[in-house]
Amino acid sequence: MLRYVTTNDGKVREAEEYLEEVVAVDYDYPEIQADSMRAIAAEGARSAYRHVEAPVIVDDAGLFIEGFDGFPGPYSSYVEDTLGVERVGRLARREDATRARFRCVVAYCDGDGFEATPEPVDTEERRGQDIAADDRGAAATDESVAEGALPVRLFAGAVPGRIVEPRGEGGFGYDPIFEHDGTTFAEMDPAEKNAVSHRGRALASFAEWFADRTP
Ligand code: IMP
Repeated sequence: MLRYVTTNDGKVREAEEYLEEVVAVDYDYPEIQADSMRAIAAEGARSAYRHVEAPVIVDDAGLFIEGFDGFPGPYSSYVEDTLGVERVGRLARREDATRARFRCVVAYCDGDGFEATPEPVDTEERRGQDIAADDRGAAATDESVAEGALPVRLFAGAVPGRIVEPRGEGGFGYDPIFEHDGTTFAEMDPAEKNAVSHRGRALASFAEWFADRTP
């Protein structure tokens, strides 16, 4: 039985499309402050695993506006709570910085040793590589796993789009201002969003790997 540790029910509904046996665990694990979503997700999975003591996934996601050097990125939640989605949208449109992408990193931890993703290290030099790796998926790097750290496996997904005036009633967060192929995420039903979304892509690659891991 796999636990999706999150306080967001919408994420678990999305995961159910990819995973047969997944249950939600409503636990608000402490999030480290870092510029790398891979590092945030990895630490989140470790905290979540220590809390539930069973196989877990967590995810970290954010909106990256290209013309704003990736802002709000890993700070998307803070910016949603402070500036608000509509102001972020207005700002991006006013500055003609509408190209954007959502990124998501799903992190798995079960306390066991397995072929873990090398430890993401959040340093200035690595940042560019981290972003590229987020787009490629669980890409290997030459970093070694920090000694004593619980092994974690990371799966990434990204989706390109553009920032538009808010449209649609569905979804959550930045969905109303994010348009992909002419439709905002808030105008899609959950299955449509899942088929193209950053989280859907990350979950699909996790599900493929996990199917081989399950006896
Ligand atoms: P978290 O990873 O759930 O903490 O999300 C970080 C921030 O990104 C929050 O402000 C979410 O509302 C936003 N966010 C994450 N995923 C999505 C999505 O699929 N659509 C819209 N906003 C999202």
